[in-house]
Amino acid sequence: MSDKVIIFDTTLRDGEQSPGASMTKDEKVRIARQLERLKVDVIEAGFAASSEGDFQAISAVAAAVKDSIVCSLARANDKDITRAADALKAANAKRIHAFLATSPLHMAVKLRMSPEEVLEQAKRAIRFARNLAEDVEFSAEDGYRSEMDFLCRVVEGVINEGATTINIPDTVGYATPELYGEFIKTLRTRVPNSDKAVWSVHCHNDLGMAVANSLAGVKIGGARQIECTINGLGERAGNTALEEIVMALRTRKDYFDMVCGIDATQIVPASKLVSQITGFVVQPNKAVVGANAFAHTSGIHQDGILKNRDTYEIMRAEDVGWATNKIVLGKLSGRNAFKQRLQELGIAIEAEADLNDAFVRFKTLADQKSEIFDEDIIAIMSDSAAAEEGEFYKFISISQHSETGERPKSKVTFRAGEKELSSEAEGNGPVDASLNAIEGIVKSGAEQLLYSVNAITSGTQSQGEVTVRLAKGGRIVNGVGTDPDIIAASAKAYLSALNKLHDPSQAKLNAQMTP
Ligand code: KIV
Ligand code: ZN
Repeated sequence: MSDKVIIFDTTLRDGEQSPGASMTKDEKVRIARQLERLKVDVIEAGFAASSEGDFQAISAVAAAVKDSIVCSLARANDKDITRAADALKAANAKRIHAFLATSPLHMAVKLRMSPEEVLEQAKRAIRFARNLAEDVEFSAEDGYRSEMDFLCRVVEGVINEGATTINIPDTVGYATPELYGEFIKTLRTRVPNSDKAVWSVHCHNDLGMAVANSLAGVKIGGARQIECTINGLGERAGNTALEEIVMALRTRKDYFDMVCGIDATQIVPASKLVSQITGFVVQPNKAVVGANAFAHTSGIHQDGILKNRDTYEIMRAEDVGWATNKIVLGKLSGRNAFKQRLQELGIAIEAEADLNDAFVRFKTLADQKSEIFDEDIIAIMSDSAAAEEGEFYKFISISQHSETGERPKSKVTFRAGEKELSSEAEGNGPVDASLNAIEGIVKSGAEQLLYSVNAITSGTQSQGEVTVRLAKGGRIVNGVGTDPDIIAASAKAYLSALNKLHDPSQAKLNAQMTP
C-alpha cells in the first residue's frame, strides 16, 4: 500500500507573513473552512503570541474547524507555548508547533546563544509543550544550513522529550532538490530514535525550487509531511505551493507512490478565495491555478486536444475545480437554480436569510450582466460573506464624469452606520476621484499601499475585481470590491478596506511585526 503524505497548510501563518497579506479574524475563519473542505490534515492558523488579534483568530479557527488538526506556531519558550495552547483550547484536535533556530549564523547573530544553550532550550520547550498537548511539532529554524552533527543531537533530544513531528525548514530557500533530499535522509539515518516521529519538510521558494525540494524531501529523504501554502503564498518568494505538491503526487503517482487525503476539486476555489482576500493576484501561467494553466490557443495543440485530450493535457481542469467559464445562470434563473449551482460549486449556505441575501445580489448582477459565470457566483458569495462580517460603511451609488482634457469628477453616496453620506471630488483619473470623494468625508488618513484591478472572467462584460490595500497605525488591511463597473468596484473596495480599519474586533498587527 502507498504511504500517506500529511498535508500541513500554513497559508494562515507563513502565508500571512507576506508583506500585505495580513488577514482579519473572519477572513482566517473563511479560509480555514475552505481548507477543511479541501481536507488538509493540519491547518496552521497563526502565531498566537504574536498579537492579541492573532490569538483571537486562532481561537476562532479552532472553534470553527472540526475535521482538520488546528495548529499554532510558538517560539520555544514557556510563555509562547502557553499562549498557543490557550488559543487552541476549542480545537477538536490541536498541535503546538515550537521552533528554535539551529544554524551557526542564527544561533550566534539572532539568538546570541551557544549551541549547548539552544539544545537545552529546545528540549525544555518540547517537554513543556508535551504537558499541554499530545501532538507537538519541533522546527529547527534554518535547519538546512545547520551543522549535521549538532542538528542530529537537537533532533534526538527533542524526540526523547516527546516531539511527534520533526520539521527541517529550508528557511531561506537555499537548498537544491537532491541535496535537500539527501540531507533529510542522512538525518533520519543518523538520529537513533528517528522512527519515533514523523519527518516534515518546509521549503521557501527563493530560488524557485520549493516544490521540487519538498518532493525530494519525501522521495529521497523519507519525509511524510509537507508544509505548504495555497498559491505558494509566503514571505519573499513564498512557500511550497500546495496545489503543485498535491497534483504532482497525484499525476506522478507512478513515480512517487504516495497518497494524500486532499479533495483536489476544492483547489481552485481555495486559490481564488486566498487571492481575493489577500489581494495577491495569481499569475496567469501559474501551474494548476493560473488562468492559462489549462488554456490551449495554438492551432496544433487545439487540434490535438480535440482528437484526444491526453495529447497535451496531463491533468483535467475539472479535477482541480476549474468551472471552465461556463455560462451557468441568467436573468430568468430562479432561486432553486441558484441554490443548486451553489451546491454544485461546494458552497455551503447555512441560514435561509443568507441565501436570500445572496439571491438578491445575484438578481442585481443579472440585471447588469446578461451572462453569469461560476466565477461571478463565487464573487457574489464572497461579498455576502464579507457583508456578514459587519459593514459600517456600505456603498450605495456612484456618478462619475470624465472627458478628455478635463479633470474627472466623482460623486459617491454611501452609508456610514445609520447615516447616508454623499461626497464629490476630482482626481487624476475616475478611480482617484472616487476614492478622493470617500476619503474627503471619512478622513481615515490611511496610506494606500496597493490598488489592483482584475477581470473575474474573460471579455469586457466581465465584472472587475478591485483590491485596495491600506495601512494605518501598524495595521495593513485589504479591501475587495466587485462590480461590472470598475469605478464602482473601486469605491466598494475602498469602503471594504475602511470597514476593516474601523472594526476594532478585527484589529490585528501584521505577523511580520511580531515582538
Ligand atoms: O521558514 C521557517 O523556518 C519557518 C519556521 C518557523 C517553521 O517558517
Ligand atoms: Zn517558513
